[in-house]
Amino acid sequence: MKKTREPGTPPGEGFIPLCVPCVEGNEWKYVKVCLDTNWVSSAGPFVNRFEKMVSEYVGTKYAVAAVNGTAAIHLSLMLLGVGPGDEVVTSDMTFVAPANAIKYTGAEPVFIDPDYDTFQMNPGRLYDFLDKKCRKGKLGLVNRDSGRIVKAILPVHILGHCCDMEAINAIAEKFSLPVVEDATEAFGSKYAGKLAGAFGKMGIFSFNGNKIITTGGGGMLVTDDRKLAEKAKYLTTQAKDDSIEFIHNEVGYNYRLSNVLSAIGCAQMEKLDDYIVRKRKIASTYNKRLGTIEGVVPMSEPEGNESTFWLYTVKIDKKKFGMDRKELMKKLAGERIDSRPLWQPMHLLKAFESSPYVGEGVSTLLKKLCISLPCSTGLKRDEQARVIRAISAHAGKKR
Ligand SMILES: Cc1ncc(COP(=O)(O)O)c(C=O)c1O
Repeated sequence: MKKTREPGTPPGEGFIPLCVPCVEGNEWKYVKVCLDTNWVSSAGPFVNRFEKMVSEYVGTKYAVAAVNGTAAIHLSLMLLGVGPGDEVVTSDMTFVAPANAIKYTGAEPVFIDPDYDTFQMNPGRLYDFLDKKCRKGKLGLVNRDSGRIVKAILPVHILGHCCDMEAINAIAEKFSLPVVEDATEAFGSKYAGKLAGAFGKMGIFSFNGNKIITTGGGGMLVTDDRKLAEKAKYLTTQAKDDSIEFIHNEVGYNYRLSNVLSAIGCAQMEKLDDYIVRKRKIASTYNKRLGTIEGVVPMSEPEGNESTFWLYTVKIDKKKFGMDRKELMKKLAGERIDSRPLWQPMHLLKAFESSPYVGEGVSTLLKKLCISLPCSTGLKRDEQARVIRAISAHAGKKR
């Protein structure tokens, strides 16, 4: 296990972190209300209020709070009846959480390569898998190779941008499969005028410390389906059939977010629109300034989308730039500037070595080329200028 900095130790003078929370609103005030009134646990007015704020923002009828995004994904899969002997089709280029959540149910993930330009699940590869590698069986769509039943599609909107939901939903409809969006990295991002998380049967958000808004740790499941929302709340609160006599007819989970953390969430929600403006401004400045450097390819925003650019990422073309992204990361670290590579493609991880992968190595190529740059909502102009100057200084040639 490799460690970076010891948790709790300050990074020191002049360090520019990758993506840290911004706490400058009513967080302290709302948390104080929880502590003063003794509503500190998973019951309390802020949990309901946070759910209402999120569902109204996203435009879904219901929202159910959870302890974190991973738990909310796990919950969504249980609600769809995913279990041992099933498969769930998901993105190969993602943080590991959705793949882990699929495994919690006893099902197997099937990893779909990303599109080279958008980094998101490639709908063409998804279609190829469902059309060529699967057949219709009595219990649903069956993967011809594994014999397992394909139960759902779980596209992951990575880095603050959206998957091509029009194409994915059309494919899902053709093969009669439900879609759960892992929108944990795309809270507030729009695709064709509609917010991420509102396209599938369910959508999932995370309020982890590095997300656009944070509760320290937290998650949310959104849906238009009343029955799913009710069942979600039931399962997240230990499946209480009679909370006075302690009757439980099903196995439940202790997955509900606390009132204290929801209070932070309510305060953060009040700032979300402002944070999105800031994120987009940071991205636009990077695009303008880095886009002129030979060998630096900014992540583009597909037409009709309005992304939050949650984690601003560029491709580094070694031949044109003069060094690869690993060397650049080292140089930036030397100048106290944080940066991060993309995640390992899921199909290359030991934990998922037996899971099917559909693709031609695009995720592996992106992993090799990409680097994410500092883009906290609180990033100051002079800090961003320092990042841009540092990258420019290491560039071989200007365009
Ligand atoms: C794509 C993706 N899915 C799921 C999660 C899990 O969210 P959480 O950390 O709240 O469990 C994260 C982030 O942490 C993520 O980036």
